[in-house]
Amino acid sequence: MPCILLTGATGYIASHTWLALQAAGYSVVGIDNFVNSSPKVLERLHTLGGQVPQFVQGDVRHALALDRAFELGRDQFGGVDAMVHFAALKAVGESTQIPLDYFENNLGGLLSVAQALKRHSPDGASKPLVFSSSATVYGNPERLPIREDAPLTSTNPYGSTKLIGENILRDLEQCDPSWHIAYLRYFNPVGAHPSGQIGEDPRGIPNNLMPYVAQVAVGKRPHLNVFGKDYDTPDGTGVRDYIHVCDLAEGHVAAVRYLLDKRASLTVNLGTGQGYSVLDVVHAYERASGRPVPVEFAPRRAGDVAACYADAGLAAKLLGWRARLGLDDMCTDSWRWQHLNPQGFEG
Ligand code: WQD
Repeated sequence: MPCILLTGATGYIASHTWLALQAAGYSVVGIDNFVNSSPKVLERLHTLGGQVPQFVQGDVRHALALDRAFELGRDQFGGVDAMVHFAALKAVGESTQIPLDYFENNLGGLLSVAQALKRHSPDGASKPLVFSSSATVYGNPERLPIREDAPLTSTNPYGSTKLIGENILRDLEQCDPSWHIAYLRYFNPVGAHPSGQIGEDPRGIPNNLMPYVAQVAVGKRPHLNVFGKDYDTPDGTGVRDYIHVCDLAEGHVAAVRYLLDKRASLTVNLGTGQGYSVLDVVHAYERASGRPVPVEFAPRRAGDVAACYADAGLAAKLLGWRARLGLDDMCTDSWRWQHLNPQGFEG
């Protein structure tokens, strides 16, 4: 079976994708610099996947590190057949504090990854690349659910790196049709592998809703601050399209299969098509954990939109993939990870 090289491989979404690719029969090589993940993930992947992870510690901005990963793929599996590029800084608020770091890391990393894939592909051969994009490229959506042909805009430096990254890759495939790229626009990834052995492990105070709710439920934080309850939504709190990280991982397996089979590019939303409010998530988490999640209502957070959820029809049509798991599954699996690992991987 083909060998897939994952960048950001010990991160939240990549580690779940690693397992899903192996379960589908693919060989996997990973590279990560551990700037936002733990080496302990490799031990968990070994236990869960039953194979010694083939891994290189390195920064994707360094050509030699990527060359080492391609060489490992060649030595172990006869060569790398496609790449999934996850490695990026991804906190919206942080990106407004250190925009130059975000541009240098996210765009510099993308360019280095594309250069390496070209360097390690025979002239004219297909260059299959999955790019982690984000619903943030839709900005404040005019229509809901959001279709892939909706207007694109960026509202923060992080979102700009995703939009500029897409534009770089679209130009690349215009100039050289042997580039076959899957632009995957994630909505709100949450939850954890059902084993409870890998999951989301944010450093410091979580920016995102579900990891924060998880820390309230486990007693690490006193309450959740709900950012605004005067939005034009059913209960006044923000509505988002939460997608189980295992469904998201399966979406990546389907995208890799598409690139290798069809030798063509595609852009798809990876979401469920179902929006849930902040309070919906809080109540679901209380049911899943059996713990109270006290809330306090706070002012709106700058940059937030009222509602954002996907039209998930194109991924179903092109990839034969749909999200299967619902909000209760997301909360149950998140809670299992959280209470088995109250201090995350470094606990
Ligand atoms: C969800 C809802 C908040 C925290 C961001 C990025 C996106 C992607 C996912 C990278 C909103 C509310 C949150 C809290 C709250 N990241 N909230 N209290 O903002 O939809 O998306 O993360 O790819 O690109 O933009 O996710 O989880 O931060 O917020 O009330 O402590 O929860 O206002 O309505 P968001 P989020």
